[in-house]
Amino acid sequence: MQSLTVQLGERSYPILIGSGLLRQPELLLPYLPRKKAVIVSNTTIAPLYLDCLAKGLRANGIEVVESVLPDGEQHKDLQTLNQIFDTLLGNRCERSTTLIALGGGVIGDMGGFAAACYQRGMPFIQVPTTLLSQVDSSVGGKTAINHPLGKNMVGAFYQPKIVLADTSTLNTLPDRELSSGLAEVIKYGLIRDLPFLEWLEHNVESLLERNPEALAFAIHRSCVNKAEVVAADERETGERALLNLGHTFGHAIETGMGYGEWLHGEAVAAGTMMAVALSRLKGWLDDADVHRIEHLLLRAKLPITGAPIAVDRYLELMRHDKKVEDGRLRLVLLKGVGSAIVSDDSSDAQIRVAIESRLPNA
Ligand code: NAD
Ligand code: GLY
Repeated sequence: MQSLTVQLGERSYPILIGSGLLRQPELLLPYLPRKKAVIVSNTTIAPLYLDCLAKGLRANGIEVVESVLPDGEQHKDLQTLNQIFDTLLGNRCERSTTLIALGGGVIGDMGGFAAACYQRGMPFIQVPTTLLSQVDSSVGGKTAINHPLGKNMVGAFYQPKIVLADTSTLNTLPDRELSSGLAEVIKYGLIRDLPFLEWLEHNVESLLERNPEALAFAIHRSCVNKAEVVAADERETGERALLNLGHTFGHAIETGMGYGEWLHGEAVAAGTMMAVALSRLKGWLDDADVHRIEHLLLRAKLPITGAPIAVDRYLELMRHDKKVEDGRLRLVLLKGVGSAIVSDDSSDAQIRVAIESRLPNA
């Protein structure tokens, strides 16, 4: 097992990464203030992993309530969030009951938001089961639901007490979901960790083949990067925004196509290529850099062109981004491979050219 800490003063917490951790409920016990927990999961993950976690906790004297939600990004909404509150209230859960999110980023984001709101905040644990959630969404305390007008627009910063990433759960993850997670892994290399990017260039096929050592290394290294950024800028007043490379374009794809059509990582990959195209227009990357990034995303089996949405619609959707300030779009761009900045001086015309150059058949 590998472990690291997200350093946030009295709200610091460990991330445990290893194979078979779901079978070690004793790892969670020190983080439960009372002998009651609610596990929030979905109809796909529950049949695979809920019993194992619940049985282990019950064997240690914990009363376990289960909240099994419909699966899918299209259910990351107010109605499904309310289903969690129904379960919490229906089972007389108290402020000191712990909410355990067992699943991918959708369950983690929604469970975390429920935990932040229920009785103004209950203890929360992340048990991520997708590559994307193990490398990104379970760490850092961003929780949210979607709104028809924009992704993750209603939410809270709310840190978990512990993150338990059982890498053996990735064995049941569909290939397309594994690739989606790789988009966020590659992101860390592109924005701040060039040696990791080079490692990925040598090992991307091993990751796709689910080589356990390669996966463990990539998950740990991603979490180290995320933990450093979050510790430096928990509330995204500065550096944390860099974690959103490709996301402003990507969120426009996810919202524009209808939640669940494009996977989050797929939209981030295509959005990254749009940010790369804009960085190239500004002269911050050269053609070799562009081809290098494109090649790695292609090898990870990710899209390098965006969804066929009208450019005006892209711009309209992008203006709902949380990084917009005084109506100005702030975009994460690359100043060389391995280094990112937030830039607010791109004209609409420049952004249009970048998007158009990355649309299918461009
Ligand atoms: P997801 O939660 O939808 O999971 C992907 C699919 O895999 C789902 O169908 C799920 O049921 C299934 N699944 C999960 N674990 C499985 C397993 N072990 N075996 C088989 N199937 C499994 O998607 P995701 O990619 O994990 O997360 C995407 C979400 O995360 C988006 O909503 C995105 O906005 C959010 N996100 C949040 C942050 C953050 O900082 N909070 C960061 C990045 C992404
Ligand atoms: N996924 C972006 C962040 O956590 O800040």
